[in-house]
Amino acid sequence: MNRDIQSILLSERKIRSISKRIGREISRDYADKKLVLVGTLKGALPFMAEVLKNITVPCEIDFVKVSSYGSGTTSSGTLKILLDLLRSDMAECDVLIVEDIVDSGNTLSKLTKYMREKGAKSVRTCTLLDKPSRREVEFEADYVGTVIPDEFVVGFGLDYDEKYRNLPYIGVLKKEVYQK
Ligand code: IMP
Ligand code: MG
Repeated sequence: MNRDIQSILLSERKIRSISKRIGREISRDYADKKLVLVGTLKGALPFMAEVLKNITVPCEIDFVKVSSYGSGTTSSGTLKILLDLLRSDMAECDVLIVEDIVDSGNTLSKLTKYMREKGAKSVRTCTLLDKPSRREVEFEADYVGTVIPDEFVVGFGLDYDEKYRNLPYIGVLKKEVYQK
């Protein structure tokens, strides 16, 4: 285990089984749709890849990049689109936004609204982790991997100051790493 990690919250094995279940649910729900998975860079990349392997219906992938945290550990509340979808077929797309974690709810509630304004046929959301105790806005994702307590976690795409994304598990970051 990495020495900055206090404890492992989700093992590689658990992440794989969660992704399998979600892939099955998505395949069932999107059988007759034009599914476009839209990953939020950078954090959602490993989870999106894992879910993608378990989707058995036709689907496309795309990405957006939005700003949330900077280098701190609290959300800013304003959503900046740093990389947008470049598609001319939005009206046909059943967009499923894939995110690593829902915390305050600001990112996904705003991004969902934005995708609807861009004219997507439908917009739903999928997240690996959910921290409902930290919500600032009312928001529930349509597909949730697992609910976690109010701890700052890293690994499997999630970072602190751009580090730890490469860990194959989700772990709680030691407080001394960010409370200096
Ligand atoms: P929200 O807008 O507050 O819901 O935050 C969503 C974004 O905040 C996520 O996409 C993450 O990038 C980041 N985030 C929230 N909680 C954590 C955490 O525990 N570890 C790492 N990043 C987090
Ligand atoms: Mg993120």
